[in-house]
Amino acid sequence: MRPAEMFERLAVGALMAASPPRLFDYIAGLHWQRSMLDEWTGGFPFRPGGSILDVGCGPGALSASLQAAGANVTGLDRSSRMIALARRKYSGGGARFAEGDALALPFGEGTFQAVVAASLVNVVTGPEVLIAEMTRVTVVGGYVSVLFPVLEFDTAKVDRIADELVVTGFSRTVLGCWQAWSRKLSPETVSGLFEDAGLSEISVRPLLSGAAASVTGRKVTSIGGT
Ligand SMILES: C[S@@+](CC[C@H](N)C(=O)[O-])C[C@H]1O[C@@H](n2cnc3c(N)ncnc32)[C@H](O)[C@@H]1O
Repeated sequence: MRPAEMFERLAVGALMAASPPRLFDYIAGLHWQRSMLDEWTGGFPFRPGGSILDVGCGPGALSASLQAAGANVTGLDRSSRMIALARRKYSGGGARFAEGDALALPFGEGTFQAVVAASLVNVVTGPEVLIAEMTRVTVVGGYVSVLFPVLEFDTAKVDRIADELVVTGFSRTVLGCWQAWSRKLSPETVSGLFEDAGLSEISVRPLLSGAAASVTGRKVTSIGGT
């Protein structure tokens, strides 16, 4: 670890304690984060032209970029501070933002053509409930997709990403914090949750040099199997 990195990690921790919305908004602007999200959304098996729900949207950067790509986006987060910042920064672009619980989504069955969540399935207490809820509010024929850090994300991967994407200074420290502090999941575990929720056409894609992955599935039948 660079000598300055210890102090920088303290700064990241302090920002996390003082204002998670500002920290996540800062992270949303970092090159490695944008590149990971572009890799993910660029590989969606659907065009972002319909209605999309971004669950656990944080301060709204992903919602805004999907809206700008042509979708009609609703961002949802349980934190009123996240939603307030998202509305302040991104409502002008057309995306809507709502406060609510991802484990009891305040929408009816089949409301959205796609339901996505970045860095949420590894955070919530009931990941199986999250995937079941995301599936419920997806229309038959629509898609569910999640992004999360994987078990293989270690310090060597931080070095590799830093080299490949030229991530330096404070941005690299934030990447190191994500590696050190995040809960990680295996794609197999998440794929299993997709199967249990009744999703089909399940695909796994490695992202950010294998530090993260996405799992995407399609809802081909309604709940109850019709
Ligand atoms: C790690 S942040 C990711 C934010 C954003 N998706 C991103 O990639 O920058 C996780 C977000 O999920 C939200 N969250 C956690 N549990 C939630 C729940 N049960 N319902 C809704 N939002 C939740 C948090 O408030 C936070 O904004």
